[in-house]
Amino acid sequence: MNIFVTGGAGFIGANYIFYMLREHPEYRIVCLDKLTYAGNLSTLEPIIQNPNFRFEKIDICDREAVCGLFEEEKPDIVVNFAAESHVDRSIEDPEVFLRTNILGTQVLMDACRKYGIQRFHQVSTDEVYGDLPLDKPDLFFTEKTPLHASSPYSASKASADMLVQAYHRTYGLPATISRCSNNYGPYQFPEKLIPLMIANALADKPLPVYGDGLNVRDWLYVEDHCRAIDLIIHNGRVGEVYNVGGHNEMSNISIVKLICSELGKPETLIKYVTDRKGHDRRYAIDPDKIHSELGWLPETKFADGIKETVRWYLNNKEWWETIVSGEYKNYYEKMYGNK
Ligand code: NAD
Ligand code: DAU
Repeated sequence: MNIFVTGGAGFIGANYIFYMLREHPEYRIVCLDKLTYAGNLSTLEPIIQNPNFRFEKIDICDREAVCGLFEEEKPDIVVNFAAESHVDRSIEDPEVFLRTNILGTQVLMDACRKYGIQRFHQVSTDEVYGDLPLDKPDLFFTEKTPLHASSPYSASKASADMLVQAYHRTYGLPATISRCSNNYGPYQFPEKLIPLMIANALADKPLPVYGDGLNVRDWLYVEDHCRAIDLIIHNGRVGEVYNVGGHNEMSNISIVKLICSELGKPETLIKYVTDRKGHDRRYAIDPDKIHSELGWLPETKFADGIKETVRWYLNNKEWWETIVSGEYKNYYEKMYGNK
């Protein structure tokens, strides 16, 4: 089996490559990544010499380069992680989100049609459903919940999902889609809530909590997401959408307090700052379909996963300190300087 993994130098894609090379050592994995600010080749360093692994620096919007690699490698499966993924950046500058997340997906699917493929899998997000109210805890996103995106990021992901479904229906592209909740774990770029709070707390810097801190996310350990995608590409039904999430809803403020406690830092570091524009209140996945059809359930409890994640950031300071000392410094100043 030859699997193309796009965006594999990013957080979830890299964890997925590690997972696949471990679980399916006979598979060939080819990673296509543009290496944007969020892509880090050093993340793939542990497997870069693996004879079953190949890395190519490619923009998924570059039709010629994408087709060239398809021609050469003839992949069986494409798993598309490549995306601009940070909501706050999409609010500042939506254009690149539309380009990569929508047009890039189209280029990949066109190549799949041209060269033939067993499966195109689109890694999507629960954010395409919009948000849920805090006062109706029995409401969850199911695969039938209408798309109702709030941010330019989630609108671009929802657009890509619709395009994938259109390619399946119109051209018979053998496609599947997964819509996962918030991931956490090793190698997450420190602009996202959990690694940002860990990095700031370790430096005794303020911990910027948006709005009232009561927004709720449904956290899933990254490896559980990787296992879900592995199950879907092998056993999932073509044309179907699978929600992925583990009934682990937590408010932002409770996560930040937990990180303070794990690191032995005072909660006085917490600083409430201006809210995100259009900030989604609550995400919550109903994972019944993937559980009943594919037997998937999350294996990592949040209490263990967060300890493991904090430990990883403590043991791998070089990885994220290099990031926070570079171009990210300007980003941080721009986004948080006036909050
Ligand atoms: P990330 O930002 O950490 O990584 C994205 C990767 O894509 C980077 O390596 C980047 O270099 C690459 N990339 C960006 N534009 C590209 C382009 N034009 N061509 C090729 N490569 C490009 O993102 P992540 O958190 O790992 O998310 C991966 C996927 O999972 C995304 O599609 C995201 O929408 C989805 N998702 C993320 C989460 C989450 O909690 N992080 C949850 C559900 C779904
Ligand atoms: O739900 C899946 C989505 O989860 C993915 O599709 C996205 O790619 C991923 O980035 C993530 O989106 P969120 O916007 O939920 O993640 P983020 O880590 O940016 O923020 C999580 C929550 O924490 C959100 O309510 C905003 C809040 N927050 C975030 C940051 C960066 C803060 O309060 N302070 C911060 O500094």
